[in-house]
Amino acid sequence: MALIEITKLTKTYRLGSLVTPVLEEVGFRIEEGEFCSIVGPSGSGKTTLLNLLGGLDREYEGSLQIAGQEMRGLSDRQISLLRSRTIGFIFQSFHLLEHLTCQENVMLPFFFAGKPTEEARRRAATLLERVGVGEKRGVRPTYISGGQKQRVAIARALILSPKLLLCDEPTGNLDRETGAQIVALFRELNRDLGVTVLVVTHDERMSRVAPRVLRLWDRKVEDTRTDPSRVVDDLARASSVPPAAGAGGAA
Ligand SMILES: Nc1ncnc2c1ncn2[C@@H]1O[C@H](COP(=O)(O)OP(=O)(O)O)[C@@H](O)[C@H]1O
Ligand SMILES: [Mg+2]
Repeated sequence: MALIEITKLTKTYRLGSLVTPVLEEVGFRIEEGEFCSIVGPSGSGKTTLLNLLGGLDREYEGSLQIAGQEMRGLSDRQISLLRSRTIGFIFQSFHLLEHLTCQENVMLPFFFAGKPTEEARRRAATLLERVGVGEKRGVRPTYISGGQKQRVAIARALILSPKLLLCDEPTGNLDRETGAQIVALFRELNRDLGVTVLVVTHDERMSRVAPRVLRLWDRKVEDTRTDPSRVVDDLARASSVPPAAGAGGAA
């Protein structure tokens, strides 16, 4: 069973008389453990697609199944269970709570899921170590850098061991070098934890790092796989390798 299975997915926003078609009979499937980037011009529907995949928006036509469940048919309770257990979100603007410490931020999903605090505390500390900011656990996010904030947000997204990480322009507020480090971290987490990662990005270099790229364009999704011999681990190297014919290039 595919982790994500989309068939003839159509999404149209309707605001009064304003009708905005965004996706039109789009189809693709993503298996557990994949690492994909989603690219496309501003306004092409990247965030819309991610919101649908994450169950934040359940108004669509066609079929959208996550872990075998059709999103449209789920009750609010079922959707919040699926969201807390299966899906982790990462945003451009981190969405950390400034009045909590980094460790408390990472523990938040545990509180909502009603799990014991001691386990949450231990696991948060371990994850903060894993993403490279262990020493910041008692500090509030105000006092750490953008790259460190994104690492904390990644730890928070991972705390309930999701199968799927949905990342909406996670490097959009970071400089190139810091962004490259965050992408390298996603790649490592994908390999080491087996978590499926979908990264929406403007960074054209991502088409060299992700083995698979979904390009949003003209309400369609073009599904391209990068020649395995040309997939590189980090964005810094990605920019120095010439693009493969038809599989890299302009994003
Ligand atoms: N909640 C909404 N209501 C109406 N239109 C929307 C809404 N969200 C996005 N749109 C429109 O849908 C299109 C795709 O937007 P979006 O998914 O945010 O694109 P991207 O993330 O690729 O920049 C744009 O034309 C945008 O104006
Ligand atoms: Mg967007």
